[in-house]
Amino acid sequence: MPSPGSSRDLPAAVLAGLGTCLPTTEIDNAALVSRLDTTDEWIRTRTGIAARRQATPETSMRDLACQAGANALRSAGLETVGGVVLATTTPDRPCPAAAPEVAHRLGLGQVPAFDISAVCSGFVYAAAVAASLITSGVVDSVLVVASEIYSRIINPMDRGTAVIFGDGAGAVVLRRGTAAEQGALLAFDLGGDGSGHDLIHVPGELEQPGDPRWFSMAGRRVYLRAVEQMALSTSRVLKDCGWDPETVGALVPHQANGRIIQAVAERLGIPPQNAVCEIARVGNTSAASIPLALATSLATGRPAPGARTVLSAFGGGLSWGSVALTWPQLQAVHSEF
Ligand code: UT7
Repeated sequence: MPSPGSSRDLPAAVLAGLGTCLPTTEIDNAALVSRLDTTDEWIRTRTGIAARRQATPETSMRDLACQAGANALRSAGLETVGGVVLATTTPDRPCPAAAPEVAHRLGLGQVPAFDISAVCSGFVYAAAVAASLITSGVVDSVLVVASEIYSRIINPMDRGTAVIFGDGAGAVVLRRGTAAEQGALLAFDLGGDGSGHDLIHVPGELEQPGDPRWFSMAGRRVYLRAVEQMALSTSRVLKDCGWDPETVGALVPHQANGRIIQAVAERLGIPPQNAVCEIARVGNTSAASIPLALATSLATGRPAPGARTVLSAFGGGLSWGSVALTWPQLQAVHSEF
């Protein structure tokens, strides 16, 4: 039994609901092979991806966000929350933020709502900010949404990116609880390095006037930094919690590439079978990838509730971050759009 006043009694944000939403259209590798200089074998062996989803032209990033958000609320058994934080790299429009409209469409009333732009690290950044709002007493609960439509910014003829990225959304409900509860968020690490700002970017008007503004990624250089920074960031939260890597029941990294996921686990000494890799059917969905991977993993019933878990992400900015938590006991709700 924890002693009174022990760290287990400390207030913490607790993961209380999880929802996801994927567009119905699936683009398999064969569809890309027919238009790009690539092969199914190259894509599978270099990335672990067999298919990805693509939103219709009529679907907005906010549509996916609302569906995922509604599913997360249903999973948590809640009709309202104290705020909405939304992570996206692919806003439907530059202004205003999408979160207030998502809150409105979900019937959440006049709650604080804002967007976060941290590319593939967006979900981890948003979860850290939401947890701070909860533990500092500003609100009791937050809906954290990550929603992406990369098909709007990917050059369909660029084999270096078109084979990797997919569309989708995931959301979690965080509520005020204690560190002893299953699903409690226990430690955070966030970092960034703007010297690598152009390794992942969409050129702006001022950079390349008149040129098409497609997403661009220096794949190999990003790969190396991703392995390095996710391993370092994960090791920091493990240290904060006093957890040995071998005792981690689930490492849920950003789903950038199956090889990156295995390399991070190997570097840290986390059992490779405990590194969650759910990239095959949805590809890299940027900020949405961690909640989508969490949902698929939850459906398998492994690991057991309470297991030591780390979420870790790396992306444009450069940006990275990790969250240590205990595996939640809940059922994710999924829908297609
Ligand atoms: O989500 C945000 C963070 N993003 C990431 O973390 C992604 C990190 N990067 C990656 O996942 C990998 O670097 C890629 C999947 C993008 C590329 O895999 P790679 O093993 O690093 O390949 P590479 O870039 O070193 O390229 C190897 C070869 C090159 O040909 P040459 O120069 O050796 O003749 C590429 O032109 O593979 C070629 N290539 C392809 N070949 C067939 C690149 N893309 C393709 C393709 N199909 N789609």
